[in-house]
Amino acid sequence: MNIADIVNRTVPPHPWAEGEKIPWDEPGFSERMLKEHLSQDHNAASRRLDIVHRQVDYLERIAGGLDGDLKVLDLACGPGLHSLDFARRGHSTYGIDFSPASITWAKSSAKEQSLGSEFVHGDVRSTEYGTEFDLAMLLFGEIDVFSAEDLSLIVRKARAALNTGGVMMLEPHEPGIARANFETGPSWSSHQSGLFSEQPHLLLEEGFWHDDVQMAVKRWYVLDVETGEVAPYSQTVVQHTKDDLVQLIEVEGFTVSEAPGGWSAGNEDGPPEFYPLIAIAK
Ligand SMILES: C[S@@+](CC[C@H](N)C(=O)[O-])C[C@H]1O[C@@H](n2cnc3c(N)ncnc32)[C@H](O)[C@@H]1O
Repeated sequence: MNIADIVNRTVPPHPWAEGEKIPWDEPGFSERMLKEHLSQDHNAASRRLDIVHRQVDYLERIAGGLDGDLKVLDLACGPGLHSLDFARRGHSTYGIDFSPASITWAKSSAKEQSLGSEFVHGDVRSTEYGTEFDLAMLLFGEIDVFSAEDLSLIVRKARAALNTGGVMMLEPHEPGIARANFETGPSWSSHQSGLFSEQPHLLLEEGFWHDDVQMAVKRWYVLDVETGEVAPYSQTVVQHTKDDLVQLIEVEGFTVSEAPGGWSAGNEDGPPEFYPLIAIAK
């Protein structure tokens, strides 16, 4: 891709047409993103460890696991901060993520701490989950960045992996947040190195809202200063209604239940951006 392609781009971009999400699974990007996951200065990528700990308190409580005997499935686990916290409490955990750097870090952390956490590098859409789990989770808005077909597939696989009575925890964006966060005017910035590239580059970004389908599409162009090449990235975020999600989840063999209070979404300074959605396997 080159600069002329930017000038001739489709405005607005169609949902999913230019890519699904930021390149979590690219080795270099995943190395750079790992630093953000592990940073204790912010709650982007992963929450700070004190918040992860509080979230695990909550999850342990809703799954009835205060005796430390849960089998936990952590979907799109990133560096496995929740899994590792569960394992420190004696639970057994299985985490899946397609970020190579995150999974390498999670595996070596489990080994160093002699924890019963297993991690596998794979796509949650195609990787086997196993069976007999008590708790399955897909956290931090990740539910909203899959197509409806992929999301149904993930929920179906989670149902097959859970025991009857097992708990699935999802964490969608609060109403209005996808639009507020992703509908941005065009902007650019320059970097010697950054999340998208280690080389000097210009980062061009813009975000759109599709009211008809309730989806936000964000796109980034990374323009390499030395070569002039342009790398395009795009992410679509769906603003599901709770009713739509309940329908999609219940059709796969779950009953959505009222989430108890006390979930800590991480952004204590403002209104919560995510809410807990809890479903029980029938
Ligand atoms: C916002 S991070 C959340 C990580 C972790 N769950 C947490 O809360 O700390 C989203 C994660 O989803 C992973 N991911 C996104 N799509 C995926 C897919 N199709 N298969 C596996 N992992 C995926 C990314 O690699 C990234 O680690």
